[in-house]
Amino acid sequence: MITSAQIKKMKQNEEKISMITAYDYPSAKLAEQAGMDMILVGDSLGMVVLGYDSTIPVTVDDMIHHGKAVTRGAQNTYVVVDMPFMSYHISNEDTLRNATKIFQETGAHALKLEGADEVLDKIEILQKGGIPVVAHLGLTPQSVNVLEGYRVQGKDQKQAEQLIEDSKKAEEKGAVALVLECVPKQLAERVSDILSIPVIGIGAGVGCDGQVLVYHDVLKYGVDRLPKFVKPYAEANDWMFEALKAYVHDVKTKNFPEDQHSFTMSEDALPPIYG
Ligand code: KIV
Ligand code: NA
Repeated sequence: MITSAQIKKMKQNEEKISMITAYDYPSAKLAEQAGMDMILVGDSLGMVVLGYDSTIPVTVDDMIHHGKAVTRGAQNTYVVVDMPFMSYHISNEDTLRNATKIFQETGAHALKLEGADEVLDKIEILQKGGIPVVAHLGLTPQSVNVLEGYRVQGKDQKQAEQLIEDSKKAEEKGAVALVLECVPKQLAERVSDILSIPVIGIGAGVGCDGQVLVYHDVLKYGVDRLPKFVKPYAEANDWMFEALKAYVHDVKTKNFPEDQHSFTMSEDALPPIYG
């Protein structure tokens, strides 16, 4: 079993950490087979696999449902599960209750929480209770409605200083890693240099200790537009579409099924037609 200590060791050894999201059994299995160091069951599943237009509608039960499928598919990979919108804000008791439920039922290695301020205090509470936490700063999609949209964060000096302070605080509070989303590469590199925990970037440049991307973006599967920070490695949409069209065509033209796809019996055993 891979541990938080092993992930931290990779940073010390200057070995870059590869991470991708996964939301179900087959995606988790493929990610593990491909040698991914970490898998994130991101609440991006709200958009990518449930068809919502943000991560806001995603529930604790959604995260558990998908998280369980992922841990079944990738039993030897470090799996992080997102805590969804408002599941770690109301009170410490609620936060602990939700976190315990997600952590126990999914069998994840860690949970991820977005945001600074009071959220950083929640990291400590969970950590003390035995739940490793990954922090998430920079662009935090659960706050999209108070952030003025999906934009690069930390571009001016004041914001940059704040991000550095928040990152340090996340480490002090016991985070096992930090995800930095949509942050200028110079700032992300600075944060990676300052912290001893791994900094995993998404849209945060090559200076981070690792990279994370959304599974469906990497494969170009079910997504129309890609953010600037994504490099697609396949055209899954295109070849899946062609395959499905060919299947429809074969059904309509009786080119499928062929004999090799059909079962047969002796003609004698076929009952006579009555009436
Ligand atoms: O939900 C998600 O996919 C994420 C990554 C973008 C870091 O939180
Ligand atoms: Na997320």
